[in-house]
Amino acid sequence: MKGIVLAGGNGSRLYPMTATITKQLLPIYDKPMIYYPIATLMLAGIREILLITTPKDVDRYRDLLGDGARWGLEISYATQALPNGIAQAYLIGREFVNHRPSALVLGDNLFFGSGLSRLLTSAARLAHGAHIFACRVEDPERYGVVELDAQGQPVAIVEKPQAPRSNWAVTGLYFYDGRASDMARELRPSARGELEISDLNARYLAAGELAVTRLGRGFAWLDTGTPESLNAASQFVGTLETRQGVKIACLEEIALTQGFIDVDTFARMAATAPASDYGRYLRSLLSDLEIDAAGPSLRVAG
Ligand code: TTP
Repeated sequence: MKGIVLAGGNGSRLYPMTATITKQLLPIYDKPMIYYPIATLMLAGIREILLITTPKDVDRYRDLLGDGARWGLEISYATQALPNGIAQAYLIGREFVNHRPSALVLGDNLFFGSGLSRLLTSAARLAHGAHIFACRVEDPERYGVVELDAQGQPVAIVEKPQAPRSNWAVTGLYFYDGRASDMARELRPSARGELEISDLNARYLAAGELAVTRLGRGFAWLDTGTPESLNAASQFVGTLETRQGVKIACLEEIALTQGFIDVDTFARMAATAPASDYGRYLRSLLSDLEIDAAGPSLRVAG
């Protein structure tokens, strides 16, 4: 399965923080925001990733992430001239996706929860239809909202409804079969001038091919588009990391535990990482590995 990270946009709600820095390179506690959605794709087992961003920002992402080889990834880049809608990712990424199943994640969405890897791995087995995730929110009018019947099956999807018919917001993580680019081609801009991902989802729904998984209390879904939510996400990550002594979205660790890189590659990165908290964390994982030479990756995974 292929993966797309959509990391363009204006970031206008975060101005002036975003006056010279693209939103998805702002920090969430101890690492750039873009690490989190990349981690989500990696946990789904995805290694081929297209990062779509603005023409102005693309070189900054290249500087940070390169070709992704150090994490066992293949990262390529494309640009979106204007934020003309999330579904446009499938027009821009058409050749990359090449009629294969794919996952799309928004660059400012953070997912966390026990069992997340299992959930993502199983979603990544999708061969037909679409699979999205919904979370209960207090302010559904800000999101794409899915209405569910008594059995939890989707009956309607509406983008930013004025009078929401449910509290289930559609999160910024979508899995599609190989038809997504063709279906995105048939979309027309909405009243606000965007190619809406809710319209793409509604097409799968109309065909009876949309699966919706509700993320319950055990999961956190944070989007980080406002100063409050950016700060809340940083606090959330900081609290968990400090309390538990583990890191969320540490790409080197995930690459190792997913088997994308070998122990030697991990060891080289750990040894050369700067003396930050993040660098020390990599070295601490390495010392765990050395103690546990018989089953190195298992020790870290546990
Ligand atoms: P938004 O939060 O809708 O928009 P934004 O990031 O431009 O922020 P603001 O509203 O403050 O101006 O976007 C959600 C995510 O999707 C974010 O990571 C940017 C990305 N995005 C694109 O890359 N291109 C698009 O056309 C749209 C609509 C969003």
